[in-house]
Amino acid sequence: MRANFHNINLNLNVRGLPQSATLAINEKSNELKKQGKKVYRLGLGQSPFPVPQPVVEELKVNAHQKDYLPVMGLPQLREAVAEYHCRMQGVCCSADEVIIGPGSKELMFLLQYVYYGDLVIPTPSWVSYAPQAHMIGRQVRWIKTHRENKWRLTAEELERHCQQDYDKPRIVILNYPSNPVGATYTENELIEIAEIAEKHKVILCSDEIYGELHHGGNHISIAKFYPEGTIISGGLSKWCGAGGWRLGTFTFPKSLNWLQRAIAVMASETFTSTSAPIQYAAVRAFKRGNEIEEYLWRCRWILDKLGKKLSDLLNKDGIYTPNPDGAFYCFPDFSSFREKLKSKGIHTSTELCTKLLEDTGVAILPGEVFGRPAEELTARIAYVDFDGNRAVNAAMHLNIKDVIDDKFIGTYCGDLVKAVELICNWMKD
Ligand SMILES: Cc1ncc(COP(=O)(O)O)c(C=O)c1O
Repeated sequence: MRANFHNINLNLNVRGLPQSATLAINEKSNELKKQGKKVYRLGLGQSPFPVPQPVVEELKVNAHQKDYLPVMGLPQLREAVAEYHCRMQGVCCSADEVIIGPGSKELMFLLQYVYYGDLVIPTPSWVSYAPQAHMIGRQVRWIKTHRENKWRLTAEELERHCQQDYDKPRIVILNYPSNPVGATYTENELIEIAEIAEKHKVILCSDEIYGELHHGGNHISIAKFYPEGTIISGGLSKWCGAGGWRLGTFTFPKSLNWLQRAIAVMASETFTSTSAPIQYAAVRAFKRGNEIEEYLWRCRWILDKLGKKLSDLLNKDGIYTPNPDGAFYCFPDFSSFREKLKSKGIHTSTELCTKLLEDTGVAILPGEVFGRPAEELTARIAYVDFDGNRAVNAAMHLNIKDVIDDKFIGTYCGDLVKAVELICNWMKD
């Protein structure tokens, strides 16, 4: 008898989740490329920079490591991560409070799985938090942030949200520098948010995966101000240019070690442990040292200048875009062109991005996929479509920040400037 698998996931639907707009934009980009058209890929949020050489060398040396490692992670890596938090962020913890996973995304999924409570997400936010909650069957509560505040959460907004249902158990996501805006918080703002989080005893999942890509190197962890309730999420994917290596870290306060243990139980029945050679190499990454610091400063300078250049170009043409403070994203708002776009039959951010791609070859992601209302004409630009290896090597020969000027950006990141000019001209046309 032939098995009948009818209708199972023909649309790749899981629990009613539709195919993501990200995939749709990618498919369209591939189609245009096949037709021989030039496509500017400003959609995918992947670091353009290479993995620092000392970390690559360490991976080579450890290629022979073949044994399963402890489920919580390689002890010396957990130690290195704990030391890193203490040294770099003044958040002192022990190796026992660190867990290593195959990407912070997986750890986030397990956190939601083991903790019964709502997931509170300020919008706009990274694309995967909400789908993970839906897969597990958790309630998602959105907090709508505002353009006037660079789409960042305020303490008042969090307070108002918590007041609605006082005793509800909840995990609140705070991501900064943020995907998709590139915005961060001042120390005072973090203190205010921490006070509200503490008052309502929320679990704060502080997604600091872009922390080391704060353009001024001044990232502050909110765990300093709410140590007993904050889980710091980090990893190698962004600052170390190693997204494909799949290594993420969660650092817990002692008071939440029961959650950490629950995640370890889940991990033991799912991924077992993170790839051994990658964990050994990651020890080198977290120990840092001069060569890695120099590399990191060059990456920050390039991202800083580039982010400012692109957002200035957009602002100059009336497309409101906050200058990014970190990461490699900016988040333009095209609403001042609403009437003009309407006349072209464009009413939503998804329609905007689809038409922009068809007309100009520039692929960006609609604000809708980051949890914004469909009719809000926002979008995310990931400014990573350049040869990061070439750029960082060139910057290594420079001494001072100011030398990364328009000429440098034009030489090493020229396609990005061109892509943003195409966006501006398309809007004005
Ligand atoms: C805000 C944010 N958090 C978490 C992740 C997941 O990172 P990883 O699973 O590679 O550690 C990403 C990846 O794009 C991200 O943008």
